[in-house]
Amino acid sequence: MPGTTATAPGKIILFGEHAVVYGQPAIAAPVRQVGIQATVTPALRAPKGSVQIQAPIVGLDAELNSLPEGHPVAEVLRLLFARTKVVRVPAFNLRISGNIPVAAGLGSGAAVSVAILRAVSAFLGRPLEDAAVNDLAFEIEKIYHGTPSGVDNTVITYARPVYYVKGKPLELLRVGKPFEIVIGDTGIASPTSQTVGNVRKHWLAQPEKFESLFANVGALVQAARQAIEEGKPEKLGELMNNNHQYLCAMGVSAPALDKLVTAARSAGAAGAKLSGGGGGGNMIALVQTGTASAIQAALEAAGAVRTLHTTIQ
Ligand code: PMV
Repeated sequence: MPGTTATAPGKIILFGEHAVVYGQPAIAAPVRQVGIQATVTPALRAPKGSVQIQAPIVGLDAELNSLPEGHPVAEVLRLLFARTKVVRVPAFNLRISGNIPVAAGLGSGAAVSVAILRAVSAFLGRPLEDAAVNDLAFEIEKIYHGTPSGVDNTVITYARPVYYVKGKPLELLRVGKPFEIVIGDTGIASPTSQTVGNVRKHWLAQPEKFESLFANVGALVQAARQAIEEGKPEKLGELMNNNHQYLCAMGVSAPALDKLVTAARSAGAAGAKLSGGGGGGNMIALVQTGTASAIQAALEAAGAVRTLHTTIQ
């Protein structure tokens, strides 16, 4: 049995995070500057069923059977074995590597799941279709996030910009004119399950306020979709600024995020917002061609531990 390798990109949410958990649309895009790689090699001398996992990015070096129930890497393998109906699993080593920062809003968890599903299913001779990869990765997102919308696993599985509504068929987004964004990382790890849980608490306490915030975000996402498809990305800056305001009203921003958002705007970005779960993690800024490095420098001066420049196309 030959070894196999698969990769999965990072992702960024352009519009609609949090509201997407409550049925509103979101727009997300892959970020290919970062990614996760899963490599499977046969362990010829090990007994059947032995699976040795090394994932230095999450400090993991363990035999599959020693991992507790609910461990996301173990569960992705267990789900995969069940789905592919492979009973006698040949011994293998699984190595997971990559450069997507963990708990930063770049989709590291979903990318790990997708890369593992692709590499291991191919190794077993039962390569999964995208739809199956997406389904199984969604199951694992529930472990990471509690009540995920499914946007992360979807954009990472299909590795294309998506317009996503929970429970609805996938809609790939046609980008009329490519546009550039800069991503700034606060360096503050903020588990998505926590901010998603906080929003749920506030929504239960103030349903009317939150329903109206979610609906406003939904309307803004529709406008963003239209601008992206019509090739009018210059309209996105203001929509990003408005989306950030709504996220602040939901209570998911943080001083470090607001500082980076303000710094990007002062340095000439057409708009900026937090991206992903919030509380820390990343923000994004819409930049004009030729201005990215100045905005990256401004973000770094304002405390960003890492910046990325990517084109959405
Ligand atoms: O923190 P991230 O980028 O994984 O973003 C999660 C996006 C949320 O809308 C906050 C949650 C979800 O499941 O959609």
